[in-house]
Amino acid sequence: MLPFISRILLSSFLLITAIHLCPVVLSAAEPAAIFKDTCSVCHGIGGKGDGPSSQGLEPKPADFTDCKRMTKDSDDVLFKIIKSGGSSAGRSTVMPAWGDSLSDSEIRGMVQFIRGLCKK
Ligand code: HEC
Repeated sequence: MLPFISRILLSSFLLITAIHLCPVVLSAAEPAAIFKDTCSVCHGIGGKGDGPSSQGLEPKPADFTDCKRMTKDSDDVLFKIIKSGGSSAGRSTVMPAWGDSLSDSEIRGMVQFIRGLCKK
């Protein structure tokens, strides 16, 4: 059994550590939050290209979980498509350009996030 004062000190220490770790946790979750809020309407929550707004689109957004399909595009191509829109890489003009709302480092985060969705 710890003396009372040590317990107070220990719990304040844990609390302060937790508060300091918070921003790290939040920024790590950001690409997922951006994807859910901004991209999933078309790309689907799981990135399969089956979001509600993908209905009737031709071509449909690619299935990000399909590794074989996704190796066809380099990180640079994905970056360019996200930043400057589908038309910048000769793809569908339905894919909007996000360069005005996302910074380059956020876009790099999105490319990494999309790579992380590939499972099969
Ligand atoms: C209005 C619907 C829509 C939204 C919203 C949208 N996309 Fe797309 N996106 C598309 C379509 C359609 C394509 C397919 C283009 C093609 O293959 O011609 C595409 C293509 C892509 C590609 C290239 C790989 C592929 O599917 O061929 C990436 C990467 C991508 N989108 C990322 C994003 C990210 C990141 C966001 C959110 C910041 C986003 N998209 C939001 C419709 C959308």
